[in-house]
Amino acid sequence: MSETILILGASGQIGGELTEKLRNIYGSNHVIASDIRNGNDALMNSGPFEIIDATDKDGILAVVKKYKVTQIYLLAAMLSATGEQFPQKAWDLNMSSLLAVLDIAKEKHVHQVYWPSSIAAFGPTTPKNNTPQKTIMEPSTVYGISKISGEFWCNYYHEKFGVDVRSLRYPGIITWKSKPGGGTTDYAVDIFFKAIKEGAYECFLGENTRLPMMYMEDAVNATIKLMQADAKDIKVRTSYNLSAIDFTPKELATQIQQFLPNFKITYKPDFRQQIADSWPQTIDDSEARKDWNWSHKFDLSSMANDIIKNLQAQKINS
Ligand code: SER
Repeated sequence: MSETILILGASGQIGGELTEKLRNIYGSNHVIASDIRNGNDALMNSGPFEIIDATDKDGILAVVKKYKVTQIYLLAAMLSATGEQFPQKAWDLNMSSLLAVLDIAKEKHVHQVYWPSSIAAFGPTTPKNNTPQKTIMEPSTVYGISKISGEFWCNYYHEKFGVDVRSLRYPGIITWKSKPGGGTTDYAVDIFFKAIKEGAYECFLGENTRLPMMYMEDAVNATIKLMQADAKDIKVRTSYNLSAIDFTPKELATQIQQFLPNFKITYKPDFRQQIADSWPQTIDDSEARKDWNWSHKFDLSSMANDIIKNLQAQKINS
């Protein structure tokens, strides 16, 4: 079946790269990017773009009808650290947008929905190592509360109304193509920009804070693979655990020093330390690997190499 896809939150960190990849696969005119603000030039110039407030169901529906959209990827969200500064706003954005999109699918305007959950759906009482698919989930951030609630809404719309909604619990996602966007795992993005530009980085998490992470290319591939999988293979309708690598700030800094020997890191933990300490350190994603054949490509060294190479090339060309 040929698809026409609407991305909500396309100007964000994951939305932008997902749009680019989907445009390569489905053709530019079949992938409608949207956000509450314009994106970068690459996004704006590579295909259709609409300004949409992701919490405005009528606004979304108008664009769905205009382009005969068949699938929605909902990437608009407020992340963990910003969410703690603006709890009500985070809840409103994260929940209203999901319910709007699920209703549009329930009313059969589109046949498939993607919505990301996160490791933030886990909490301090969750087993920290090799965290299983099904386990204790008592999140301690507003963002995490919105993610666990969202997972149950997805499952509910699937069970009750047959909505084909699919979801992944993303670990920290790392990229060099855009600046960090208010997450706790975003130190692992910022560190590369500062390493290239200033040769030094002050980390807001302690040196031994281990978190599950993934390179953007793997995250985008996982997302599209999940959406393209046969519906009968999708056994989890809350959200799938998803995992690739895990490291501490100290291990990441040591890895960066392999490529940039003069790079220096210092540590000054702030309120984000408590958020990080409430999350798992490593994730068991065997159900995703078994059900729809997920596998990751990048380890810590190949990821760091790729990011540094690209940022250095960007610096030379700018
Ligand atoms: N990367 C996100 C954050 O740190 C977690 O999903 O908020």
